[in-house]
Amino acid sequence: MRTVIISDVHANLEALETVLEDVAGRAHDRIICLGDVIGYGPDPCACIDLVEQHCEFSLLGNHDYACLYEPTNFNPIAVQGSYWTRAQFEPEGDGLRNDDAARRQAYLHLMRTFSYLDDDRDYLLVHASPKKPLSEYLFQDDVQKASKITGAFSAMRGGAYAFVGHTHVPGVFSAERDQEGRISIDSLYEFDYANELEGPFELDTCDGRMSFIVNPGSVGQPRDGDPRASYAILDTSGPVPTVEFTRIAYSAETTRAKIHANRHLGDRLGDRLIVGE
Ligand SMILES: [Fe+2]
Repeated sequence: MRTVIISDVHANLEALETVLEDVAGRAHDRIICLGDVIGYGPDPCACIDLVEQHCEFSLLGNHDYACLYEPTNFNPIAVQGSYWTRAQFEPEGDGLRNDDAARRQAYLHLMRTFSYLDDDRDYLLVHASPKKPLSEYLFQDDVQKASKITGAFSAMRGGAYAFVGHTHVPGVFSAERDQEGRISIDSLYEFDYANELEGPFELDTCDGRMSFIVNPGSVGQPRDGDPRASYAILDTSGPVPTVEFTRIAYSAETTRAKIHANRHLGDRLGDRLIVGE
């Protein structure tokens, strides 16, 4: 089974369309989304529609939550953008037909905060972290601070793999359990940046000792200094699962121009797409 994992589209239609075109040319069985389909970007409705059409499901991200309920721990630019995004999903907003608005609202309401791939508890899926599925950032440098990352691994409850988005930085956290199966600061390996990997990353548990937290990066707002859209393919067909990371260039200038033309979306939200930060 080859599962394409996308995350953090952030209403960037140009990036999403480019990723879906790229995915169409590669062997895969399905696409899943780890959330934050909307927020920040200029095309929330079109992105929800494409994700609904192409993905088996999408989880709920904190920006999807902000549209449904309220923005939480957002900076002022993100708050302003989230209220504009919410207005796009209202029946009277911008000439939307009511049945389209109702369908999109229903799709947002169906998003879950966590899931397991094919009900297999070895494959946990969340938007942000196993401990706090909507809000906790698992940054690469947190490996040195340890407690947050060890907490995240411990929250996997013995499962081998978790897949998260949220930080928009693609790569892999690895940890080795001790004889009692515990995760401590000594358990953690250095974060493997996706762009520094050569070929697919082997998710080898070494007879159950190793666990992994995999971030496919962001389709619509990468933040690792590489502006290309990011996604990953999980391949579970062999004896050892692998994850392959992909970057693909898209017309970020087009998206930036749309954001600059939208007075509700801060210019910085467009500018950052050009540099991937
Ligand atoms: Fe996000």
